[in-house]
Amino acid sequence: MPHRPHARLALLTAALLAAAATTTAADKVEHAPEAQAFVHGTPSKPSEAWTLAAGGRLYDNWWVALDRAEPTSTHPSYPASGKAKGAATWRCKECHGWDYKGRDGRYRTGSHTTGIIGVMGARGRDEADLVRLLRAPVHGYTSDMMRDDELLRVAAFINRGLHDMSDVIGADDVPLGNVERGKSIFQTICAACHGFDGRLINWGTVEEPSYVGTEASRLPDEVLHKLRNSHPGAAMVNLRALPLSDAVDVLTYAATLPTR
Ligand code: HEC
Ligand code: HEC
Repeated sequence: MPHRPHARLALLTAALLAAAATTTAADKVEHAPEAQAFVHGTPSKPSEAWTLAAGGRLYDNWWVALDRAEPTSTHPSYPASGKAKGAATWRCKECHGWDYKGRDGRYRTGSHTTGIIGVMGARGRDEADLVRLLRAPVHGYTSDMMRDDELLRVAAFINRGLHDMSDVIGADDVPLGNVERGKSIFQTICAACHGFDGRLINWGTVEEPSYVGTEASRLPDEVLHKLRNSHPGAAMVNLRALPLSDAVDVLTYAATLPTR
């Protein structure tokens, strides 16, 4: 078959636009069939960077990351006082937060409050112990939900893949990176899919758009998590192989992009 990069790009763009028009952030994101292995699969010899980012995507939304059935019940440890229900209550981030600080972080107040502790105190903890904790009744993750090798990725992420949000995002939610370096990375990497102004993909609605700039200025800790680990179900790159400061720089620049 002749090499037709433009036709393939057009197809991919059409798929991205269709996905953007019809999905919300928590839905499965459509991607081209040839991206299936990159988005949901495992390399034959996983690098440390791949493992930590894959663990981070499980922390975000494990069933979308793994292309598996979503839970139908509300998690038994999710407090009755909480506002979420159903599948969402099975996401690690729903109880422990995008800043990994649970009740001591951003989820101290607001619609995601649960009163549950964060996971920062578990940094450096033995990975086999972490897997046991995730299989124990307080968490109740079965092997149909995540296999042992998959739980080990989350454990690796907790052990050595977290960053302290207060080191990188200052008061008033302003990220503390280098905006010029962030611009260089954004224009040469992110713009391929998101456009130079970050508005090529809209995961909100036409009336209430959600672009890179919208989310970076409103939810910087969530965006930093996604920059380091990628977005579950999406054929998106991640910056895990690069120093944390690069991701913070991109976040800092992204927060200057148009929000609508
Ligand atoms: C429905 C809420 C809920 C969800 C979802 C949840 N957890 Fe937890 N987690 C808890 C509670 C409650 C505790 C405290 C348990 C205790 O102290 O006995 C906890 C404790 C922990 C701890 C120990 C923290 C410490 O400092 O001792 C880690 C690590 C952890 N969870 C990781 C995860 C990961 C990884 C996921 C997703 C795969 C996850 N949790 C999903 C409720 C949740
Ligand atoms: C190869 C294409 C591609 C590249 C490169 C890429 N992204 Fe994405 N990104 C996507 C797709 C696809 C989505 C999912 C959109 C959706 O939910 O419909 C996404 C989603 C996002 C989201 C939203 C996640 C959410 O909460 O819904 C953010 C923020 C984001 N990207 C930022 C970036 C930044 C910053 C870069 C550069 C480091 C980048 N992306 C590079 C394709 C890409």
